[in-house]
Amino acid sequence: MFLSRTGDRGRLKCDGEFHAQFTTVGPYYDELMQGVPYGMWVDYVELLLGIEGVRPQRVADLACGTGNVSFELARRGYSVTGVDISGPMIDVAGRKIAENENLRIDFQCQDLRSLTLPAEFDLAVCLFDSLNYLLLDEDLEAAFRGVHQILRSGGLFIFDMNSEYALETELFTQDNLFRNSALRYNWISQFSPQTRISEVEMYFEVHSDGALPLRFKELHRERAYSLSQVMDLLDRTGWQCHRNYEAYTSMRPGPRSERWYFVCAPKPTVTAS
Ligand SMILES: C[S@@+](CC[C@H](N)C(=O)[O-])C[C@H]1O[C@@H](n2cnc3c(N)ncnc32)[C@H](O)[C@@H]1O
Repeated sequence: MFLSRTGDRGRLKCDGEFHAQFTTVGPYYDELMQGVPYGMWVDYVELLLGIEGVRPQRVADLACGTGNVSFELARRGYSVTGVDISGPMIDVAGRKIAENENLRIDFQCQDLRSLTLPAEFDLAVCLFDSLNYLLLDEDLEAAFRGVHQILRSGGLFIFDMNSEYALETELFTQDNLFRNSALRYNWISQFSPQTRISEVEMYFEVHSDGALPLRFKELHRERAYSLSQVMDLLDRTGWQCHRNYEAYTSMRPGPRSERWYFVCAPKPTVTAS
């Protein structure tokens, strides 16, 4: 999740242990993502669906976080199920659905590596580098197998991933320390060429009138997969990658692409005659 690189450089102080990723930040996630063009992302997904010539109805938003993609999809008429491993993120999504009762969204707390949804989806999406949070080949493989099982025949799986280039060049090192921001942050990433994992120390400071700032920190880890590793894992788990793009374009990924998009369908099954 790359945001803008703005503000002064500096380190926010915060004692104590790091919290697990997407726990303490849950209630502040939407404020953090204010500038993220979720509508444009869903436009792009719809463009990719148009290229494939499919019109899905039931959509699974995998690793949905606080449901920003789910809500965007539901507002466009899709029937959506959102799942995420983080209780605090799903709690926020659930509170938002209570304020939008007319939208058809079901939120559930589930691990992508052991999905237990019924096989009734026309489309599964997994956006904003959520799959990079799966650190082992086995994890990504388990997720790919699970998604396969929740699709109806003719279904599609569209996902994005941060590229190796993005994680190697530490694009996660970013901050917003502007004094007029109620939510300030300072993230420091370190990429290990050995493990191919980017470890990001995220420091946050929440300011509200008349109160001492609330400070907390989370440790996030994302794995850099190569394109060929992703393609191999897809192939091994029964997927055919129809198209692969540099995000939000119609171009093939290049060496400096920061984010990749994949449009995949289950491989056709061969029936014995
Ligand atoms: C960068 S956030 C993206 C959230 C959302 N897709 C969005 O666009 O705002 C990554 C999400 O992946 C979720 N996640 C990480 N590992 C997961 C797993 N094993 N199973 C389900 N969700 C997971 C996190 O809890 C987090 O909500």
